[in-house]
Amino acid sequence: MINTLRRSVRAVFDGGEALLAKVFPSQWNPLLNLSALSFLFYWVITASGIYLYIFFDTGVEQAYRSVEYITQEQWYAAGIMRSMHRYASDGLVLTMLLHVLREFGLDRYRGVRWFSWVTGIPVAMLVFVAGISGYWLVWDKLAQYVAIVSTEWLDQLRIFGAPIARNFLSPEMLDSRFFTLMMFIHIAVPLIALLILWLHLQRIAKPRINPPRGLAFGTFASLLVLCLVHPAVSQGPANLSEVPSPVGLDWFYLPAFPLLETMPGPVTWGAAAAILIMVVALPWLPPLRKPKAAVVDPANCNGCRRCYNDCPYTAIAMGQRSDDMPFAAQAVVDPSLCVACGICAGACPRATPFRKRTELRPGIDLPELTTAGVRSAVERAAATLQGKGRIIVFGCTSGVPLDGLPPGTAASVPLNCIGQLAPSFIDYVLSMGLADGVVLTGCTECGCRARFGIEWTERRLARERHPYLRNGVPLERTRTAWVGRRGRKKLLALIGRFSDELAAMPPSEPAYEPIRRPPRTVQEKDTVDA
Ligand code: HEM
Ligand code: SF4
Ligand code: SF4
Repeated sequence: MINTLRRSVRAVFDGGEALLAKVFPSQWNPLLNLSALSFLFYWVITASGIYLYIFFDTGVEQAYRSVEYITQEQWYAAGIMRSMHRYASDGLVLTMLLHVLREFGLDRYRGVRWFSWVTGIPVAMLVFVAGISGYWLVWDKLAQYVAIVSTEWLDQLRIFGAPIARNFLSPEMLDSRFFTLMMFIHIAVPLIALLILWLHLQRIAKPRINPPRGLAFGTFASLLVLCLVHPAVSQGPANLSEVPSPVGLDWFYLPAFPLLETMPGPVTWGAAAAILIMVVALPWLPPLRKPKAAVVDPANCNGCRRCYNDCPYTAIAMGQRSDDMPFAAQAVVDPSLCVACGICAGACPRATPFRKRTELRPGIDLPELTTAGVRSAVERAAATLQGKGRIIVFGCTSGVPLDGLPPGTAASVPLNCIGQLAPSFIDYVLSMGLADGVVLTGCTECGCRARFGIEWTERRLARERHPYLRNGVPLERTRTAWVGRRGRKKLLALIGRFSDELAAMPPSEPAYEPIRRPPRTVQEKDTVDA
């Protein structure tokens, strides 16, 4: 059932991403920048909050008056800041919840990824606490409603000496200290959330916390327009002698309030506890999937650090050598952090398929999809191709489905992530004459499930990041198709066109004769291979 739910969520996001791709350039697609947009909203809330603090007065009478002054008399400065503060807070809830759903849909919350998921939960809770406490500070009718409903709900727990809802029974019972306390909560809670966010990103290498400039500017400009067209206003002063009349709710922060107001406490508390337990337990619920972590082979590791630089999940450290090889360090994998994307194997200089005289064992490799296994899959795929315009398609299992390629013309080699492919494999296919062309495919551009697979691949092909694609490799015989899960049609069309182009090219001479000697073991070191 969870699988079905996850697949449905993913399908919705894939559809939304494709729709937005018609309007935005791929790196600006908002659905691919949800967490970075959450950070942007957080900074806007902080900056506007600091400005508002200058004008805000913490007193039963003064609070509403100061907010009215901000809204009416200073509408052109503090008023806009108030609206910014309100709408950026709504934006934060929206992007944060979409971020959570997307991580769920992409299956990035289970196994070793539990940590980011679990640390995200208190962040989400604190964002709601901060937002709700913000509504109290205005001390208008909505604030009165929020204060009464939330304190009555908290009182159901019976953990406070005296019911706190009593403070709102009559004007005499409420004093200014209450507003000072709320102000403190409203400032302290987001700071604690920021601290937990720092923890949230501890297992993510180079987290993307800033949206691309264009998207950031566009978001900010849209916020500003919204603030001018539809400024945030109060809903009349609170009056504790009256029951608040119907109020307009903020559906980002307060959607549960009508339920809290009308349903019995044990039911709402029970439901809240059940949802929390379910969300915390989600990473460990069956069906569990535990791919085996990458493994280092010190005999083939020269300590070059490429895998360390490329790992998207901080799973590799450079440690002391465990042997007497004359290198400064060796890669060490922490299996509790490794998501088995294989990007490290694609980075290793020893992952070259040309190695035939010694066993093909890179310095680091995936036990369940080894580099030698990928080479065998390439050779098997090549054996099925015939005629002119033959293509080998390397693709990741998270991207476009690779079945249904035109038989005889194209054959696929699946990888855990396209970043698992060492560029020397492209060289190998073309220079050994195993196919006339190579297509690399996977997730959508900027939407790589393993975060950096596509970016590193592009930069390796452009010879900007090690390991480079060898200079002599004919780039006109390679294509990339970052089309994602819904891109089968595009991929097939590209393969059809590319095959025709390849067939029209003069045949390429294989640069090397396949070596047909039996492989030797690693112990029989062969310096030629290095
Ligand atoms: C204000 C709220 C949040 C912010 C600003 C935020 C920010 C981020 C950022 C910047 C990343 C790294 C993305 C990347 O570079 O690829 C990330 C990853 C992640 N976040 Fe959040 N997050 C928030 C809330 C949450 C919540 C509430 C959850 C879940 C309950 C969550 C779950 C995750 C997961 C599972 C990942 C890891 C993805 C992976 O393994 O690649 N986040 N978050
Ligand atoms: S498989 Fe991926 S997560 Fe694991 S060590 Fe290699 S690059 Fe890092
Ligand atoms: S890329 Fe290969 S050789 Fe370089 S440190 Fe990693 S395992 Fe060792």
